[in-house]
Amino acid sequence: MGKAALYTTAAVCAAATAGAVALVVIRRRKALAERRARAASVIEELEGIFSTPIERLRLIADEMVEEMHRGLTSDSSASCLKMILSYVDKLPTGDEKGWFYALDLGGTNFRVIRVLLGGRESRVAKQEYEEVSIPPHLMVGGSIELFDFIATALANFVATEGEEFHLPEGRQRELGFTFSFPVKQTSISSGTLIKWTKGFSIEDTVGKDVVAELTKALERQGLDMKVTALVNDTIGTLAGGRYEDQGVVAAVILGTGTNAAYVEHAHAIPKWDGLLPSSGEMVINMEWGNFRSKDLPITDYDRALDFESLNPGEQIYEKMISGMYLGEVVRRVLLRIAQEASLFGEVVPPRLEIPFILRTPHMSAMHHDSSPDLRIVAAKLKEVLGIANAPLQTRKMVMAICDIVAKRGARISAAGIYGILKKLGRHTVQTEKQKTVIAMDGGLYEHYSIFSECLVDTLRELLGEEAASSVVIKLANDGSGVGAALLAASHSQYLGFDES
Ligand code: GLC
Repeated sequence: MGKAALYTTAAVCAAATAGAVALVVIRRRKALAERRARAASVIEELEGIFSTPIERLRLIADEMVEEMHRGLTSDSSASCLKMILSYVDKLPTGDEKGWFYALDLGGTNFRVIRVLLGGRESRVAKQEYEEVSIPPHLMVGGSIELFDFIATALANFVATEGEEFHLPEGRQRELGFTFSFPVKQTSISSGTLIKWTKGFSIEDTVGKDVVAELTKALERQGLDMKVTALVNDTIGTLAGGRYEDQGVVAAVILGTGTNAAYVEHAHAIPKWDGLLPSSGEMVINMEWGNFRSKDLPITDYDRALDFESLNPGEQIYEKMISGMYLGEVVRRVLLRIAQEASLFGEVVPPRLEIPFILRTPHMSAMHHDSSPDLRIVAAKLKEVLGIANAPLQTRKMVMAICDIVAKRGARISAAGIYGILKKLGRHTVQTEKQKTVIAMDGGLYEHYSIFSECLVDTLRELLGEEAASSVVIKLANDGSGVGAALLAASHSQYLGFDES
């Protein structure tokens, strides 16, 4: 072949290669554009199915009020709200005195607490606590194993009592037990477990008196301690909140689970068949996590999550709102877009298929990412889901999904609070400018600020500016433990004895 022919062949080959490369680039771009368009339309669809317009929130609040009424009647099985009587008819006054213990069990950790209540002068004069995490196998094992584990931790904590710890001669230690699950109370210091929630499933405890179970475990440890108050975390938070602020009328928990309690007039509780308390009031544990309504924007993602959960058909509101589930809803959405619109490339990232791998704190970290190139989103995608080098467009989409899921949760929670305020007649402008305070606790509210800001804004929108100016949501950080100790004090077996 002559030189000229050689050059020609080379030129033709180069042109062909360049042409092929260009074709590949064009195809890739086209595919990318298609993928983006598909993903964008998925986002649009998500915005539609997760949407919570204000009129819808008003309907949800009205249904919450109706269910509250129904749950307070004698046939409370007619309602999805249990509206449990707490037997707390007097909230802390500030006069409580002495050393008390509390045990706070309701999530993957529990806390043991020791407080010295110093009356009106010194308030909570001393507070010590220890936090212990519960090994996962105990959350789905047997009752004895769980209660023995707790009693051992409590005994170890009691062994650390210092010099200043002092009980009057002949008195037992007393404990307020915050047990944050649905319990049918039979008195302030007894109650049977209705069902487990939040990933616990210890079937041999259902229907049993949880105070009796704890007491037996304490005895097995040789610990002389009396459980004087059994309370839900909402009740503990309400008690702790009222101790700090007399305006507190309700408490809401937004953490691993979600629930609310409020102070009800005894005469508005048809199912209350005991003596009317002298205060005329009774604190009600709503167990609002089990709320459901035709107006809740329940999507196929929620249905699938519920179906595959440990408690299908239950705690529907909780599964749309609380810290245990938000991250999981996001994971399910991402998985579908990965499968149907190749969000993360041709192969679906295997870790994305693992239930509950994306936790709400991961979601919150991504959602709060304010760096221009969404570095934290990229880091979490890599660390948690093993997805490396996600393009900026994809990161933006992940963030948009976090926003959609978190804001739906925050807005329907605000609707629930608005419902309680309506039930209490505190949703309109108050004539004597009475402050209405809601004690709030839980990591979701405390740490996920986009969630909490959205909740506050939505509540203001529902109430209107003027009425909203007399409603305050007050973070009662870990108030439920101290609240339980306060209730143990106000229900002490030694009440009426001289303080010494
Ligand atoms: C779950 C429990 C409820 C608790 C709430 C918040 O909904 O059923 O009792 O108050 O979580 O911890």
